Amino acid sequence: MNRYYLDHNASSPLRTDVRAALSTYVNDPLGNPGGVHWHGQRARALVERVRRLLRQSIGRSDGRVVFTSGATEANNLLLKSLPTETVVVCSRIEHASVLEPLLDHSGTPIHWLEADPDGRLDPDGFARVARVVREGCLVLMAANNELGNLNDVTAFANVCLEFGWDMHVDAAQVHGRLGFDASHPGITSVTFSGHKAGGPPGVGALWVANEKRLRPQMEGGSQEMGYRSGTENVLALAGWEPLLAHPDEQSWQSLAAVRDELERWLEQTFGARANGDLQRRLPNTLHCSFPDRDAEEVVMALDLEQVSISAGSACTAGSQELSHVLRAMPWDDARRRGGVRISFGPEHVDLRLEFLKQRFMDALK
Ligand SMILES: Cc1ncc(COP(=O)(O)O)c(C=O)c1O
Repeated sequence: MNRYYLDHNASSPLRTDVRAALSTYVNDPLGNPGGVHWHGQRARALVERVRRLLRQSIGRSDGRVVFTSGATEANNLLLKSLPTETVVVCSRIEHASVLEPLLDHSGTPIHWLEADPDGRLDPDGFARVARVVREGCLVLMAANNELGNLNDVTAFANVCLEFGWDMHVDAAQVHGRLGFDASHPGITSVTFSGHKAGGPPGVGALWVANEKRLRPQMEGGSQEMGYRSGTENVLALAGWEPLLAHPDEQSWQSLAAVRDELERWLEQTFGARANGDLQRRLPNTLHCSFPDRDAEEVVMALDLEQVSISAGSACTAGSQELSHVLRAMPWDDARRRGGVRISFGPEHVDLRLEFLKQRFMDALK
């Protein structure tokens, strides 16, 4: 029986051209980009090519791209660089790699942006704070990794520009999938992850408009212009390159059809309740609550039928606790406890749903 992998928001398996690029360099090793010899220079050229591609992909030729080990490190680097007294506005449904450094950064005044029952965040709510507090930093994910909601980045960026606020966008779930245009002058920094659209895990980046504000969190050999010491992950960058050069947005966009059909069927068959902003979300993501069932039970039963989905966020995996996103939602306990995420990937564009539906029937009958 073949297995269905429906957890692309946790990590999307390597694309074929990514695998090919990786194996090229596994068999013909790159040097250290710090080396002055031919091997080193070849590695340096690769690193700089990927940096250029990343800039092009977001439409910014100014500022700096700093490569990191992933989106977690990029968020940490930016947020730990903020002066302690900086006023921060963000929501409780941001990724843990945003919330933890902010909460650890003792003294940072945080204004919480409340999510509505569908997980939507209101730019006017933010404008009310920005009008009163003269300077600060808005931290906003472009898409929520659990509910799939797409935030109105442009509307928030307009407010930031009007009131002179910085704006940090965590684009981990959209970049390489739907595309992410950071050309709005209100956006001052962006986080990227390599592995959410079929690239290698263990690589990511932070783009910042004003590099002078960065405070290195990793010290050593002064790689990445001194902002992030440690030898660049050249192999992973080699794998990221084809993804940046040839994003497959069409496939990701077209997943809405499969997602919508499964969602309707789960509602009709099991009384599942769809969660999130149903008008504006990642096309590959379905979040729903099963009545009278715990999410863990649903996940385990489906796993026995060779279907991998997730309850809560896999980034806090291993824990049986409700994710912080579900805890923050103004829902009753049963809806929170029954919440699961199903996230499709490009291999599902032509998926024949009758076979998958049968697995759900066998698991949940
Ligand atoms: C919105 C968001 N930010 C950050 C991360 C962390 O990404 P990485 O695994 O590259 O550290 C994730 C991973 O799920 C995410 O979804």
